[in-house]
Amino acid sequence: MTAAPALLRAPASIRLGSGAVRTLGATVRSLAGEGKVLVCTDSFLASASQGAAVEASLRAAGLDYELLDSAQPELPLAGVEDAIAAARSIAPDVVVGLGGGSCIDVAKLVSLGLAHDAPLAEHYGENAVPGPSLPVVAVPTTGGTGSEVTPVAVLTDPGRELKVGISSPWLIPRAAICDPDLCFGAPRSVTAYAGIDALAHAIEAYTAVGRSSWEEMGERVFVGSGQLTDGFALRAIGQISDSFLDALEDRSSGRAGMLSGSLLAGLAFGTAGTAAAHALQYPLGAASKTPHGLGVGLLLPFVMRFNAPAAEEKLRHVGEALGVGSDPEAASAKVREIGLAAGLPGSLREIGVDRGDLPRMAAQAVGITRLIDNNPRPVGPVDAEALLEAAWAGDLDRIEMKAAC
Ligand SMILES: NC(=O)c1ccc[n+]([C@@H]2O[C@H](COP(=O)([O-])OP(=O)(O)OC[C@H]3O[C@@H](n4cnc5c(N)ncnc54)[C@H](O)[C@@H]3O)[C@@H](O)[C@H]2O)c1
Ligand SMILES: [Fe+2]
Repeated sequence: MTAAPALLRAPASIRLGSGAVRTLGATVRSLAGEGKVLVCTDSFLASASQGAAVEASLRAAGLDYELLDSAQPELPLAGVEDAIAAARSIAPDVVVGLGGGSCIDVAKLVSLGLAHDAPLAEHYGENAVPGPSLPVVAVPTTGGTGSEVTPVAVLTDPGRELKVGISSPWLIPRAAICDPDLCFGAPRSVTAYAGIDALAHAIEAYTAVGRSSWEEMGERVFVGSGQLTDGFALRAIGQISDSFLDALEDRSSGRAGMLSGSLLAGLAFGTAGTAAAHALQYPLGAASKTPHGLGVGLLLPFVMRFNAPAAEEKLRHVGEALGVGSDPEAASAKVREIGLAAGLPGSLREIGVDRGDLPRMAAQAVGITRLIDNNPRPVGPVDAEALLEAAWAGDLDRIEMKAAC
């Protein structure tokens, strides 16, 4: 047993399994009492079977609720501000977030905006939320982002080149109700990008640096790997690799495995954080206008190879969890194979990235220190550019699996 310090933050309750949505009403009732309930979702889910299941559960618990169904993918800032303004006139006591990461993140930001009357930009970054926000009950439908258990919400501010995150333990939902039956019908591309992102969450959380003292851990939101998150991460890797392709076919075992796997990945990365694949995706996503999961999934095997000299033992465990034996090289090859099978492009060239833009993207990525400092192997501008060059060509063998002397 390691003596290294370890931390875990999580919702007060997590319910996982078929039919869990029936427990939503009682969960909300325990938080709201006789107070008001707001359900944040999007217009599709509000009128689909997911909206009906939430309504039935709330009504069965004797709860009335107001509906805000304006959530938009990628959370444009203006849309979030409008949602907060609309919620203010409702003055709820509990906010339910029903949907994929977009709807759950809107619920988190509405609850933040109602509790703290400041422009959202004042909360960008880490630990810039001054205190508790309203209780959020998260009901995911994509299986998925893990947002139902994480301390972060991501939005698009047209005044910023890169997407922005608000990361604070105060954003962790109070309860998560994870019912795989709600994930049927999620579009294939949404399932693919969220699924490979979840695998990246688990692998990057597991291989992240560990902090060796409380002082080193400090007050950061994302503290690196540790014994309280490692088990979740490894189990997530196994479940995701077992169920991802079945989820893409909308099979029930696949949906259940992915919801559970992405939840476990969320528990791991919500405390441990992610690393270089995520840092490199931010400028890539901004330049190529491609989804987060596409970029992270494409880059991850390259980053795993690069990390092998510094995280060999952990990557051996990753290989075992992926079912390819204790070989870091086989682990990265397997992740690439999973991504390609899910329909991810094989190279940055294929998605139209200008090769001449790679040095600028590399410089931007290494500037995201909260992610780069979490990577097990130091990443400088030259390393980042080499990673992007290899990913541009789609050639894993360009990454040396040994540290340069
Ligand atoms: N907070 C976090 O921890 C975290 C982590 C990763 C990503 N994110 C954020 O999550 C967002 C992406 O979330 P997502 O990938 O879950 O997708 P999403 O929430 O953007 O939803 C995409 C589309 O899928 C539809 N959809 C969702 N579930 C469905 C279902 N069961 N059946 C039919 N349609 C369904 C939605 O209506 C929507 O049109 C991004 O904004 C990203 O930045 C947040
Ligand atoms: Fe991610």
